[in-house]
Amino acid sequence: MAVQRTFVMIKPDGVKRGLIGEIISRFEKRGLKIIALKMVKMSRETAERLYEEHKGKNFFEDLINYVTSGPVVCMVIEGDEVVQVVRRMIGNTDPKEAPPGTIRGDYALSKSENVIHASDSLEKAQREMSIFFDKLDL
Ligand code: PPS
Repeated sequence: MAVQRTFVMIKPDGVKRGLIGEIISRFEKRGLKIIALKMVKMSRETAERLYEEHKGKNFFEDLINYVTSGPVVCMVIEGDEVVQVVRRMIGNTDPKEAPPGTIRGDYALSKSENVIHASDSLEKAQREMSIFFDKLDL
């Protein structure tokens, strides 16, 4: 058993559409533990830090404008192999490719309004959670 922690963020469309409870409930029912949780309105600077790997891509501006358009809910989740487990639970970035039963497969509208973000590796999880949470919060 490899207990890990990962970073998850409910995006502005997920918050606006009242999906916070539904999403958290899915993680809890799966036996994962919410270690830290906060709602924030991200600054442009914070959004650019979170998505720095996409700087220069043609969708970068749209992405930054979108994730700073309203509040998001950030959390740290703990569990066995949680990075991969959560990525499978959220489904593909493009909702057309996300199977039913995944969060994006059930709720996402498009590649940008796709409800949720989750770290795709342990290294990214460490980096992304440190943007939003102090060591003391964890
Ligand atoms: S890539 O180039 O394949 O790595 O990019 P991709 O995985 O498809 O997307 C990376 C993140 O960018 C978001 N995205 C967008 N947001 C807003 N507008 C547009 N046009 C757009 N295209 C892609 C996508 O939802 C991914 O966000 P996260 O939060 O990482 O899932």
